[in-house]
Amino acid sequence: MASAVTSSLNVIKNVTVIGGGLMGSGIAQIAAQAGQSVTLVDLNADVLKKSEASIQSSLARVAKKLHKDNPSAIETFIKDTSSRIKYLPDISKSLDDADLVVEAIVENIDAKHKLFASLDEAAPQKTLFASNTSSLSIKEIASVTKRKDKFGGLHFFNPVAVMKLLEVIRIPETSDTTYQTLMAWGKSVGKTCITCKDTPGFVVNRLLVPYLAEAIKLVERGDASPQDVDTAMKLGAGYPMGPLELADYTGLDTTLFIIEGWHKQFPDNSLFTPPEKLKHLVKQGKLGRKTGEGFYKYNK
Ligand code: 3HC
Repeated sequence: MASAVTSSLNVIKNVTVIGGGLMGSGIAQIAAQAGQSVTLVDLNADVLKKSEASIQSSLARVAKKLHKDNPSAIETFIKDTSSRIKYLPDISKSLDDADLVVEAIVENIDAKHKLFASLDEAAPQKTLFASNTSSLSIKEIASVTKRKDKFGGLHFFNPVAVMKLLEVIRIPETSDTTYQTLMAWGKSVGKTCITCKDTPGFVVNRLLVPYLAEAIKLVERGDASPQDVDTAMKLGAGYPMGPLELADYTGLDTTLFIIEGWHKQFPDNSLFTPPEKLKHLVKQGKLGRKTGEGFYKYNK
């Protein structure tokens, strides 16, 4: 039995990533860095162009770190890694050889159901499916497929090329082989994997999102300025970014979306009450770094 599981490890050579946003681009990048053949799919050609640009810029930073004073090694690393990524606007052409499909599209259950139902029809039987959802239930996403044994959650963190953690989520139906393969794949792309159940926010977001909301409520009450809250958590708790900086970095719309979803599900949990200030900023289109303004202003 043990050898059957062992022999099924490290089979992921071809990865299809669906969704060319920041997370999808980062996942495609690290898989290519690990020597795997990657297809990054997004239906929107403009998004794909942005994905390519963001991968190139991130690869340049990674290459500089790996090959400090060696310009030709830097160039080779970037060229070789880039050559392993195909950018496609058509899902059906991306699945023939896929060992693993990682979904990183919009956080909308209907959109994810539509996608996975069609993937289930089109992908070979061997293909494992994973969602990078940050707040939805993996079991619910998997419910539209006939391969729940080959389904799991793979939750990455932004910036994917830098953050060392990967949360691997198994649902009761996830087979041992699928789970072990997802864990091994996470390791192969350079991440430290933890296992968690399919509960709201898994581990990191279940702790992080209420923390961000509490920080915003603190500012809302006028207890301290955003700058002072951020300085407090950086210098008093050793966090690399303060909570308002981090909320701006990950996107205020993302934080609001997560907390509103949980608030609907668990209205009695005050940790999940969306802060008014957050709602207000999102309504004004101030979504953080990506729009040039959130709690702080940024040069676009
Ligand atoms: N690609 C490649 N390398 C990158 C990078 C990127 N996108 N961003 C930063 N780096 C590298 C830099 O090149 C630099 O490398 P060096 O040490 O060799 O010079 C190193 O990372 C540090 O970067 P910077 O000097 O620019 O800045 P910082 O030291 O402030 O680090 C940070 C930036 C890594 C983002 C750090 O501030 C940090 O860890 N912040 C917290 C991020 C965090 O908590 N992420 C999780 C968010 S929650 C989430 O993603 C879940 C989702 O579901 C919402």
